[in-house]
Parts: sequence; C-alpha cells; structure tokens
Amino acid sequence: MLRQERGWRFYKELRINYAATYAPRTRHLFPSEPWVSADFFQKRKAPAAFKHAILSRYPKVFAAKLGSTSRDNQVIFLDGYAGRGRYKDGEPGSPLLLARSADGLAGSRQIRGFFVERDEENAAALAKVLAESGTAMQYAVIPGDLDDHLGSVLQQCGGSPLFAFLDPFGTALAYPSLRQQLLQRRPGVTEVLLHFTASGVARMGGILRKARDRPLTGTEEKQVTRVDRFLGGLWWREYFKSESGDVTEERATLIAIRISDRFAQIVREQTGFRAVTIPIRPRPELLPKYVLALFTRSPEGLWAFADTLGSASLDWHAAWIAEDEGRRLQRDGNQGVLDLFSKPDWRFQPEDHERAGAPGWVSCIELNIRTLLEDGPFRLADRVVEVYGTVLGVAWGKHVKRAIKNLHAAGVVENSGIGSHYYRELVVPRQR
Ligand SMILES: C[S@@+](CC[C@H](N)C(=O)[O-])C[C@H]1O[C@@H](n2cnc3c(N)ncnc32)[C@H](O)[C@@H]1O
Repeated sequence: MLRQERGWRFYKELRINYAATYAPRTRHLFPSEPWVSADFFQKRKAPAAFKHAILSRYPKVFAAKLGSTSRDNQVIFLDGYAGRGRYKDGEPGSPLLLARSADGLAGSRQIRGFFVERDEENAAALAKVLAESGTAMQYAVIPGDLDDHLGSVLQQCGGSPLFAFLDPFGTALAYPSLRQQLLQRRPGVTEVLLHFTASGVARMGGILRKARDRPLTGTEEKQVTRVDRFLGGLWWREYFKSESGDVTEERATLIAIRISDRFAQIVREQTGFRAVTIPIRPRPELLPKYVLALFTRSPEGLWAFADTLGSASLDWHAAWIAEDEGRRLQRDGNQGVLDLFSKPDWRFQPEDHERAGAPGWVSCIELNIRTLLEDGPFRLADRVVEVYGTVLGVAWGKHVKRAIKNLHAAGVVENSGIGSHYYRELVVPRQR
C-alpha cells in the first residue's frame, strides 16, 4: 500500500470525535512526571500546537470586537505565565503569538501586552525574543510572580478590555485573586483563558489516595495545598477520596476533568462568568494532559471561542500526525519494506479532513438543535456547549450554520441560517 493511502486509512480509523469524546484505554498507575518537564521549551508538542492555534485566532477576534468601542481603541493582552517566547525548535510561544495578533490589528487597535514570567532566565530569553521580533505592540516583560504583579498590571489596564492568558502548566493564580481581582475587575470587559493541568491534578489525587489511612507527609501536604489554593478550597479532594477500588491513571484523569467542570460551575455561580472548556490530548487515543477554559460574560465570546476551537483542531491534527510520522521514521528507519514509508510524502490535509467529517458533524449538531427546541425557542449563542455537544472542538461555526440551513430546508425551523448574525437570532420552530 502506498504511504499516502496507508496514512489516510490509519488516520480515518481515528477520525471519530476525538477531541471531545474519545474514551482512552490506558491502564498505567500514576507516572512520576513533573508538572512542567525540563525540556518543555525544547520542542513544541501537539497539545501546545492546539493551544497556540487558539492563541493565533481568538485574541484577535477579542481585540477587534472589544477594541471598537474602548477608549483610544485600547485593548490589553496579559500573558501571566509567559515562558521564553519561543521554543528551541523555532516555534513561537504564546507571547510571540499575542504580539503577532496585535501587529495584525495595528492601525485600528492599540494593544498593550504585559508578559509576566517568574523564572529569571526565561524572562530574559523572552525579552530578547520580543525585542528581536520587531513587534510594533507596546509591551512590558515583568520578571516575577503573577500573584505579586497582578494588582499593578490591572491598575495599568484602566478600563480597557483585557484578555488574560493563564498557562502555568500546574496550579495557577490563587482562586481569590482570580475571582476578586481578575473576574470582578471594574470597569472594563475581562476574559480569561485558563490552563487546567488535568494530569497534575490526577497525580495529586494519587497522593491523596495513597495517604488515605495516614496523615499526609510535609511534602505531600505542600503539593496538595497548592491545588487547594488554586481551586479555592478542599472540595476537590473528596472527588478522589470517595472513589472506590483501584484508581488508574485513566480514572484519575477523568476525575480531574470532572473537577475542572465543577470549578467552572463554581466560577459561574460566584461571578456570573460562563465557560467553554476543552480537554487537550497529545493525540486522539491518549488521555488529556490539560483542559483549556475560556471564562467570559459574553455569549458572543463563547460563540467565537467554540468556532475557534474547531478550526484550531486542524493544527492539532497536523501536529500530532507529523509527530507520529517522525517517531515512526526514527523507529523504523528506511529499511526493507519500510523504505516505502521513509519519505514524509503524506501530510494531513485539512480540506480532506473537513470533507470527510462535516456530514457527521452537521447531523450531530442538527440533532442537538432539535433536542434543544423541545424546550422552546433559543439563541444559538446562549447554548454553545449544547449546540456543539460531542463535536465541540471538532466542528466550527460554518457547520452550525449548515445545520440550521438543513433544518430550515426540512421545515423544522423558521430561521434560514443566512447572514452573519444567525447565531444571535432566536431559533424558532416552524409552525405546522
Ligand atoms: C507552560 S510554561 C508557559 C508557556 C507559554 N505560555 C507558551 O505557550 O509559550 C509556564 C511558565 O510559567 C512560569 N511560571 C510558573 N509559575 C509562575 C508564576 N507564579 N508567575 C509567573 N510565571 C510563572 C514558568 O517559569 C514557565 O516559564
């Protein structure tokens, strides 16, 4: 079989709602990986490609929209755990992606960037990368801890719209700071994109379970207390303590994801911010490493974010498939029959992926809309998570639009799906 066919066939087998619904099958007990590995900035891995694809798209949408009415069209980007700016393999990190978004809007929006980084060496590397990038964005690299600098950064934001990216790979800002300083900031619109390290919380769950019949050691207490601080209490510990039987890595990760959902619900109850969350995997059949959550008060923000997730998943597919091909080539070399496969002539084709997936995604969305209509008319933007359902992070706005058009043609809804504001209109069942 030609490499191209083999690649496509292998890929097609995996093409079933990976991002949102794939049930992993790994059974290892907790590995002792640190939360951020020492080689994090060596080479950008597929989960980071997903996050970066989001960062290349969403902040631009945020700034274009919110900056149209802000004073002097000013918008703030805060990268609270900024890193080095660039990976050693040359791929841009989050600060460079934010700077590029700002440059893309230069002339119409004034974007100021604040980049906080605790590690001195990383902060110095970042300052150099940004200086060499030639960005026209006004920015400040702030060496130090976000907890210490958040207050002064927020003061400098004034009433401008703020997009904050919190990507610690581990526990982030203490919950009271997230809630009272960031999410209840006045005046000015705020959105927060938060990285929740599911694998790390799962590991903490392992510690709690190991110590079920004894007090935690000093080191263990210190580790789990960081999670208490981040999640705003001890409530999350019960999720692990109350589990019966063996808790494998798979079960622990699924518990961690339930904890991230509960956290989003608590934030909503206490602040009114709603969230769209998405688990991010290294590749379809592996456990999620982390969950990304966008917190916003705006249905438009949730809508635009869900749309971004679908298109960002294309970059993720390209990244994990390229990683996989690279690993296979390294392992198999170019001997014997494998010689056929040694040239990377098969590449992920986003258009083929969409062509093959779209009919299924659209019918899934149609079904979700029909189900939602059983409770009466609703706006798509108010029910983002339910509208996408299992294809959140797989399909995008275009597929929702197509679903509405199909439902209109089938005589199910009044809405034609025509125009760019279809997601703001009330979806109304057609009277029979
Ligand atoms: C996962 S890396 C960030 C990657 C970066 N956002 C990107 O996508 O290119 C996390 C960074 O946060 C930094 N960090 C950890 N705790 C911090 C804190 N409390 N305040 C500021 N930076 C912190 C670490 O030194 C590390 O460089």
